[in-house]
Amino acid sequence: MSDQEQGLRLRLAKTLTASAHLRTQPWRDAVEAVPRHEFIRGGFFDRIDGNGPTAWTPIMPDAPLWLERCYEDESLVTQIAGTIVPGDLRGEIMRAPTSSSTMPGLVVRMWEDLQVEDGDRVLEIGTGTGYSTALGCHRLGDERVTSVEVDPGVSGRAGTALAQCGCHPHLVVGDGLAGYADNAPYDRVIATCGLVSLPYEWIEQTRPGGAILATLGGWMFSSELARLTVKEDGTASGSFLGGRISFMLARPQSPPPLGLLPDIDQGEERVAALGADVINDWDTRFVAQVAAPGAQRISLDRDGRTEHVLVDVADGSWAALAETHGRWIVRQGGPARIWDDIEMYVVLWREAGSPTLDKFQVSVTRESQKITWPKL
Ligand SMILES: C[S@@+](CC[C@H](N)C(=O)[O-])C[C@H]1O[C@@H](n2cnc3c(N)ncnc32)[C@H](O)[C@@H]1O
Repeated sequence: MSDQEQGLRLRLAKTLTASAHLRTQPWRDAVEAVPRHEFIRGGFFDRIDGNGPTAWTPIMPDAPLWLERCYEDESLVTQIAGTIVPGDLRGEIMRAPTSSSTMPGLVVRMWEDLQVEDGDRVLEIGTGTGYSTALGCHRLGDERVTSVEVDPGVSGRAGTALAQCGCHPHLVVGDGLAGYADNAPYDRVIATCGLVSLPYEWIEQTRPGGAILATLGGWMFSSELARLTVKEDGTASGSFLGGRISFMLARPQSPPPLGLLPDIDQGEERVAALGADVINDWDTRFVAQVAAPGAQRISLDRDGRTEHVLVDVADGSWAALAETHGRWIVRQGGPARIWDDIEMYVVLWREAGSPTLDKFQVSVTRESQKITWPKL
């Protein structure tokens, strides 16, 4: 290990302490000990700023400042479109990221929020590069960490990097939404991929009194980190922690393909009480997702104006909003009235004083997941 690497780790620990993400000595020791660059040996993708769709370009370990970048508090994308890694490409690519090394501040904040104790056994979902897994191994010991990754290639690379750093957790390739029953019960479950609904299997595999930390959101892409405690009766409940946290969604919970768009010139038309601009706001959009959990949002530019369309692929319901002469008009079709539901929820939330997401509560039973706010 070079002095430069050591210095970068110490500097990262200092930065994360100053930002209050890193709060306790055991995690500080872990950040100072684990070489993040070993988990990014395959390079990363840099975002190229522009007006069009987001483009990404590979940055390989021989690039200037590569090592320093590995110790910045930033997320580094390590896979695009489900298969493409930085070494596969020269130039640019315009597809969505599918794996990354999460920004260290968030990784550490989540480990701190999980409130592990010595001897705890942890299930991590979304191994990714393995950096957060390595921190967990340093804190708790290899034999107490199980980490599940859906992508065999990603898991294989993480395993190599972990071994390089002397870490040998139990790595599993598979759908982490099923948890990993063979090593249950766990004291803690932590997910570094986003969720639309929290799998009941995680509750079943966590001991009563144990905790689950995961980011809950939806297909309009507003989300928040939640910490739930598992109860004796087999349910779990807790609250959101704040910070407007988002992660790439667990692959099986990605939005379904839109298919054929509905004919938005048809349907029932009325003046909307709320315009589509309300869901530009993160918290309001979260409320809209609670009201219409199956809805996906698209924008269509036609006839010189923008149509904001919400479509629920499962039941074919849709709503299309456009602003004309300073008024928002909504047209809706299908079995449900998506915009009626969203307006109703947003009005209730505003009547309750528009509580921020860190005031929201979440509870999960075998049958359902409920997200509420005070006075709902
Ligand atoms: C943001 S990355 C994880 C970052 C990781 N904690 C790190 O610091 O490198 C999210 C990972 O979750 C994985 N993933 C997505 N859906 C999954 C699922 N259903 N089960 C397990 N892993 C999943 C992705 O392949 C991706 O590698």
